[in-house]
Amino acid sequence: MKHIYGVGVIGGGGAIGLEHLASFQQSPYAKVLALAETSEARGQEACRRFGVPDCHKDYRALLRRKDLQVVSIALPNCLHAKVAVEALEAGKHVMLEKPMATCTRDAARIVAAAKRARRVLMVGQNMRFTPDAQRLKVLIEKGRLGEIYHARAWWYRRSGIPRIGSWFTRKKFAGGGVCYDLGVHLLDLALHLMGNFEIASVFGSVSSHLGTQGIGDGNWGKSEIDPKKTFDVEDRAVALVKFKNRATLYLEVTWATFQENDSGYGIELFGDQAAGSWAPAKVHTMTATRATTEQLKDENFPYPSDRLVHFMECVALGKKPLVKPEESFQVQRILDAIYTSSRTGREVRW
Ligand SMILES: NC(=O)c1ccc[n+]([C@@H]2O[C@H](COP(=O)([O-])OP(=O)(O)OC[C@H]3O[C@@H](n4cnc5c(N)ncnc54)[C@H](O)[C@@H]3O)[C@@H](O)[C@H]2O)c1
Repeated sequence: MKHIYGVGVIGGGGAIGLEHLASFQQSPYAKVLALAETSEARGQEACRRFGVPDCHKDYRALLRRKDLQVVSIALPNCLHAKVAVEALEAGKHVMLEKPMATCTRDAARIVAAAKRARRVLMVGQNMRFTPDAQRLKVLIEKGRLGEIYHARAWWYRRSGIPRIGSWFTRKKFAGGGVCYDLGVHLLDLALHLMGNFEIASVFGSVSSHLGTQGIGDGNWGKSEIDPKKTFDVEDRAVALVKFKNRATLYLEVTWATFQENDSGYGIELFGDQAAGSWAPAKVHTMTATRATTEQLKDENFPYPSDRLVHFMECVALGKKPLVKPEESFQVQRILDAIYTSSRTGREVRW
């Protein structure tokens, strides 16, 4: 008989907490029994909308419940490590929002806690689960690109600062700005597609230009705004990651910039047999006389397109998480290294 796991969503009234609640409804193995939310109004509204019986103001009350075996964490970044470690120590399986933590030391604490507790831990890198990312990954694993020697990843938003004055734009709550918000997605996906988490060094530069002037608000998120509209994080970052096998990755991200288009993002991967791009998923090849581009349309994906559906399969059926904790740890190290390199002007070696 199929076992149904009791689930709690921490930060359940926020923008992404609501997405978690919707996603868990797609899994045959999950039943959300409670959420934790400091905003009573958002918590009650989420419970009503998704038919969740209980809302706790204090997440620790949720962690004490014996009828919950699984929690997802959709909290401001500064709380990820503390709550994830406590949840794992309480014996829960944990699906943690990106970024894993706000520093490498905290990320290491989470990975160690998951090992000690022998529970499933996965950081919710949703982009890996998109059909186009899966199409490209399948093709790369078949060797179609050959050896990948370089990748380029970018995300340029014209007016996409989540919300000026929310926790996203305050370093003490978010850890950082666009690197933590968008860079983490691209780094994770690029390394995953390259199949390469063996870092040699990182060179990075971060700065703020528009957010500090109050320009570029994207109006995302549900949390309260600081009346001073504090913005003390970066709204632009570039980085060059070098791998042990001499491959390179160039990353460029902006939250807000003067540009013609609203937003654009992508990853290109250059191999010695072909190149791949995302998204949409395409493969580019050429001979001496002809260049061709093929758009990938395969509809058979190895993983569900919803990360939480996959996560519940890992909990219920013992599948291996597509996003491994050790990989998220490497991504966290790169994020830290980008800031260190920007501050010191030097390359950070592993
Ligand atoms: N995967 C993605 O594509 C994606 C997109 C956006 C955000 N995120 C991540 O999701 C997380 C949440 O972001 P968001 O956009 O939902 O933010 P949000 O501000 O909309 O929601 C956060 C919620 O947490 C609640 N909260 C704060 N402290 C709490 C506590 N101690 N106990 C219980 N509830 C508490 C807040 O009241 C709020 O409702 C962040 O880590 C963010 O980086 C992921």
